[in-house]
Amino acid sequence: MDCPAANTVLFLPLKLGNGTISSRIIMAPMARLRNSRRHVPLVPMVPTYFAERASYPGSLVITEMTMISPRASGYPHSPGIWTNEQVAAWKAVTAAVHAQGSRIYLQIGALGRVANPRVLEEDAVLFGLPRDSVRFAAPSSIPCTKGHPTPAELTTEEINTLVKDFATAARRAVFDAEFDGVEVHGGYGYLVDQFIQDTSNQRTDCYGGSVENRSRFALEVMRAVVDAVGPERSAIRLSPWCSWQGMRMHDPMPQFIYLIQQLRGLKLAYLHLVEAFRARQTNSAEALFGDSNDILIRMWGMTSPIILNHGFDATSAIEAIERYIGVADIAVSIGAPFMSNPDLIYRIKKGIPLAQPDRSKSHSVIDPDGYITYPFSDEWKAEQDARLRETTLGILRSVMEFYSTY
Ligand SMILES: Cc1cc2nc3c(=O)[nH]c(=O)nc-3n(C[C@H](O)[C@H](O)[C@H](O)COP(=O)(O)O)c2cc1C
Repeated sequence: MDCPAANTVLFLPLKLGNGTISSRIIMAPMARLRNSRRHVPLVPMVPTYFAERASYPGSLVITEMTMISPRASGYPHSPGIWTNEQVAAWKAVTAAVHAQGSRIYLQIGALGRVANPRVLEEDAVLFGLPRDSVRFAAPSSIPCTKGHPTPAELTTEEINTLVKDFATAARRAVFDAEFDGVEVHGGYGYLVDQFIQDTSNQRTDCYGGSVENRSRFALEVMRAVVDAVGPERSAIRLSPWCSWQGMRMHDPMPQFIYLIQQLRGLKLAYLHLVEAFRARQTNSAEALFGDSNDILIRMWGMTSPIILNHGFDATSAIEAIERYIGVADIAVSIGAPFMSNPDLIYRIKKGIPLAQPDRSKSHSVIDPDGYITYPFSDEWKAEQDARLRETTLGILRSVMEFYSTY
């Protein structure tokens, strides 16, 4: 057995957006690709997956990145939120999570230069759209990696349309599909991040060339989303240190300090920050180079909760939360372990060993195997059986009482 974390800061309730969650452990967004070619989450597979992972009452789960519109898309089996069919499937997901007494945010995003242009063209045919409405484009004509196609540069008109697409997606998510909120994917080298960092943004107009200009798109998107669904249902994820997909500007600090200062005024539900993974370990290269979110965390302070992510286990999560008590309200999001442990929060609470995920099945398109095939712990099952027995007995007792009085 691992050490039970029941009586630690991990299980202090947290006010987040317009609700309260029962622990500081949140399910991180993870693309699992169990969606149709029309970008529709498969029912009942996807509702089952999320309901299982939301089974600890009062928890928060965040979905995989969901494309805001066809022009923002470009992966064949990623989910979308622009058709009625997609919204209906997501509604089944939110209903399943809410039935567990838990909450769910939709992560919304756009691919920009990391899209597959062939998929964009296929989608134009699939959805009966003009080819030029789904142009393969990004802030600048810079490919994400060697060998990846070079995108066209987005026009100002296209940028304005994308901002509107974010707002429409947020509105559909909250008011039609009944999500508790939306998290804009502003990290990991996707479109919003491509605008923020100079590795992918060499524009000479008002969207590039300075810290302020590179922040403009992210801020326009967040203001539009806040206007659409309210600040208490809006959040953003940033990854200042990540070098994946051709990112990691030379000195991210001035850029992210400015951006976070501006975001602070929007009173978002939370700020989701991906850590420089090894910065938490002493003597590591990144720690020596000073790659740390510490300044950003202190700047955000108590504006609203900060969700930290990357490589957390119970011990490092407790450390992070305790380090910032009185400075910032910290929670952690956990990714990979949630794939293989549907009852992850319960296991951490009780100190039950975790199952290891089979990474070869992380992205097995539309395959239930490795998705909804991971079992709950025996302890959880026993507790649920006992609870079910208690509930049934309680109902029987009340029925007998009812009849005995008549
Ligand atoms: C299979 C898989 C898919 C992922 N998809 C997304 C995604 O759609 N959006 C996102 O922001 N991060 C995504 N991530 C990154 C995770 O949210 C998280 O940052 C990463 O797994 C590190 O956290 P962990 O160490 O707790 O797993 C993905 C990670 C994995 C393993």
